[in-house]
Amino acid sequence: MQQPYSIFITPRFVSGRGSISFFASLGKKRIGIIRGGKSYNNALQETIENLAEKSGAQICYLAQIRNEPYIEDIFSCMDEVRAFEPDMILAVGGGSVLDTAKAIHLFYENPHMKFEDALIPFTLPKLGHKAIHVSVPTTSGTGSEATSVAVFIDPETQTKQLLLDNHLIPHYAILDADLTDSLPDSIRIATAMDALTHAIEASTAKNASIMTQAMALEAALDILEHLTESLSGCTDRALQAFAREKIHIASAMAGTAITNSCTGLAHSYDHPGPAFGKSHGSVCGLMLPYTMALCGPHPNYAILAKRLGYAGNEKELSQSLANHLLYLRKELSLENSFAEMGIPEKAYFKRVPEWACRSIAAMATQMSPASMDTEKGHALYDACYFGKTPVL
Ligand SMILES: [Fe+2]
Repeated sequence: MQQPYSIFITPRFVSGRGSISFFASLGKKRIGIIRGGKSYNNALQETIENLAEKSGAQICYLAQIRNEPYIEDIFSCMDEVRAFEPDMILAVGGGSVLDTAKAIHLFYENPHMKFEDALIPFTLPKLGHKAIHVSVPTTSGTGSEATSVAVFIDPETQTKQLLLDNHLIPHYAILDADLTDSLPDSIRIATAMDALTHAIEASTAKNASIMTQAMALEAALDILEHLTESLSGCTDRALQAFAREKIHIASAMAGTAITNSCTGLAHSYDHPGPAFGKSHGSVCGLMLPYTMALCGPHPNYAILAKRLGYAGNEKELSQSLANHLLYLRKELSLENSFAEMGIPEKAYFKRVPEWACRSIAAMATQMSPASMDTEKGHALYDACYFGKTPVL
């Protein structure tokens, strides 16, 4: 039964350049570190080690995570985790690292739980009796530091497996834009596209409250208005630093928005990513304008387009937003079709019937404003493959 109220859930956010130091102020003495990603470098490691030492804490490197985590990444380090008995799980890295830390925390505190049992949404136990979880993103995209979800790839089927529960939300999320400064533009762009997709989809989800919509729309605008300035080509260093901080926080806001509503079709139909080894951000970002044609025209698309300087009625404004996204992607040298991305046509369309069928039941499809069936799913995959201009 639907409740007559909504609850807005977030971790405790700590933000500002240099805020990484916050973890050392929490008084914990056994810090288990899960790390990885392009911007986790020696300088960051030294900073963390110095901060821990000054606070009198012992640290242990529990796991180093590669791109797109697999189920085995969780369990391969569990013996070390249990032997060390951390009172803090400190996750420092990109979305894969932060997601894996959620699962490591869960299975550390619940040693008898099996992965299959944890797949039932919103049935997980409260966490925190052995360790607190501090999440420190070093990319600005997944918003994992604020979300209730952790995504893993099943090596046998190459499909996504989702752990979903509000108890997976970290206790603290430290948003320190200093940690993103060394990112290459390619990652900055791909991850920003994921965050933008979260923000736009969360703003139109059927279960988005007024507060969620406000946060989602502001996050989308911050990304659209500041992404170009955040790239290495910006010669005004102060402007670039400001833009990077805006986007880092916007990514966490977008993550908060999906936690309090839902993602949408670009996430539930994103199967080409794991199937063809393409990154989550690149696939979702590509699909977003095409999925908008199935969800709009929408008042929130119109609000965003208006704030970007477009005029017209809701339908015209919604179309302008989709066109704006396609143009922005071109400007950023991003592909606007799976064909351009190099996905083989025959292998792609062989999988389409299965994907179109499987995606209908997904929560993100059910919560999107679109009314989907297999035929529309086929048409969506067709449009995304050939880059057919979305008409709203
Ligand atoms: Fe995403």
